[in-house]
Amino acid sequence: MTTAVQLKTQELKPGFGAEILDVDLARADGETLAGVVDTFHRHGAILLRGQDMTPAQLVDFVALFGEPEDHTQKQFTLPGQPKVFVLSNREVDGKPIGAHNDGVGWHTDYSYKAQPVMCTMLYAVEVPAEGSDTLLADGCAAWNALSPERQKELDGLRLHHSYQHFMATREFGRQELSDELKRDNPDVEHPLIRTHPADGRKALWPSTGTVTEVVGMENPKGLELVDELVEFMTSDPFVFRHKWQVGDVLMWDNRCTLHTGTLYDDTKYFRTMHRLWAKGDAPY
Ligand code: SIN
Repeated sequence: MTTAVQLKTQELKPGFGAEILDVDLARADGETLAGVVDTFHRHGAILLRGQDMTPAQLVDFVALFGEPEDHTQKQFTLPGQPKVFVLSNREVDGKPIGAHNDGVGWHTDYSYKAQPVMCTMLYAVEVPAEGSDTLLADGCAAWNALSPERQKELDGLRLHHSYQHFMATREFGRQELSDELKRDNPDVEHPLIRTHPADGRKALWPSTGTVTEVVGMENPKGLELVDELVEFMTSDPFVFRHKWQVGDVLMWDNRCTLHTGTLYDDTKYFRTMHRLWAKGDAPY
């Protein structure tokens, strides 16, 4: 497979995602980087291995995709680099340097905001020898696999998302929110079926954690429907499992995917990732 700038790529799984080969992001020219961005928008996710990037270079790179987004939990951003969020189980002077197991559970990032982030980028600083894979689920393939009748039933449904609910009920990092965080993160509604602005393709777009109900449907029926759809979308045919190596850059398009981190033996291994986001727009 080649792109307009002749990037060498291979699918992450049939019909989803692209590994871009032989590109050094810290040194690539503008044309090559434009090809990387273009590949991302067409494939739902990209992977580039063997990168060596400073936090400032990561910020410059994510800015090619959109304005870098801030992070809600500011205590875990990198000192001097507010756009770089640290995921880690490391402690320095008895204090955690990052959020541990932050992304475990199928979700789409910033779903509790009116304009959820368009993309998420993870850069692997240190990784366990086993475990801690990141899984990506392809919402377009899941949508396309539904019968026309089922698609008609689901299209037009809306989900209620709540950051307060998420932070009060999540398994890892449960937290009583400050008044400021409550004020800055009011509940929102988003469509269950999302349209990709690049080409109009549709994706199943449920989530877990932040969803409290399907608008207009009583619980438990509404949440049972969400669970059923998440289970369907995250079943093997639609999932890519990424096994980390130091220097990997993995980016996914939150407009058409769900993702989850997985656990690892944190008594034996350290895992440190730099996470960056680019701003998105209102889902429709
Ligand atoms: C995330 O959900 O943002 C992180 C996932 C991971 O750590 O693998």
